[in-house]
Amino acid sequence: MELMKKLFTNCACPAGRLGKLMLKFMNVSHGPLTNWGLDCVSIDNCWTMLDIGCGGGATIQRLLKRSKGGVVYGIDISEESVRKACSLNASLLDKRVFIRQGSAEQLPYDDRQFDLVTAVETIYFWPNLAHCLQEVHRVLKPHGRFAVIVEAVENDSVWTNVVEGMIVYTPEQIKQYLSEAGFTDIQVYRKGASDATIVGIKP
Ligand SMILES: C[S@@+](CC[C@H](N)C(=O)[O-])C[C@H]1O[C@@H](n2cnc3c(N)ncnc32)[C@H](O)[C@@H]1O
Repeated sequence: MELMKKLFTNCACPAGRLGKLMLKFMNVSHGPLTNWGLDCVSIDNCWTMLDIGCGGGATIQRLLKRSKGGVVYGIDISEESVRKACSLNASLLDKRVFIRQGSAEQLPYDDRQFDLVTAVETIYFWPNLAHCLQEVHRVLKPHGRFAVIVEAVENDSVWTNVVEGMIVYTPEQIKQYLSEAGFTDIQVYRKGASDATIVGIKP
């Protein structure tokens, strides 16, 4: 159990050898959930996009595939995540991919910069979610979209016993948070018992 805990703590902020291992694992294991979640948004061919909590950078690749002329920014609080995301996207780095270290709490981007912001399996760890969502709202262009993709939708001990500091929100709670941050036309998509994608639009 202790080893499991040690390993899964690296979901919140991957670091060191176990962090590297976890990033490799998440790049693959989050694929089906992420592809389904991104299918809930019709992505334009030349959007400017931001993936918050980009982890090992696989979502950045998935976004690029859907937007052949688009550019993708990635941000993550973990140095190890940034390193892995940069190496995975090395060939497009500083051309169509821009990755930096930082937090959802204080996004180092201009107002109205992005057409789409994504957050895959990460909002559980954001401190002060309401404030972070205001930051997302600020950096989106008018009519820009925010997609939250999660596979934990109930605050049960299966997750919270092994991942320290994880807060699980129900899709309805996420919808409410988005609404309070100023998003409209909020859609909740569900797949199976757990997976959820919540998409809101900045008016
Ligand atoms: C469970 S991993 C998911 C990574 C990636 N999105 C994926 O699907 O594979 C969560 C990621 O969110 C990052 N993270 C946690 N808190 C963050 C914050 N406040 N701001 C930005 N990134 C954060 C972690 O460092 C970690 O890389």
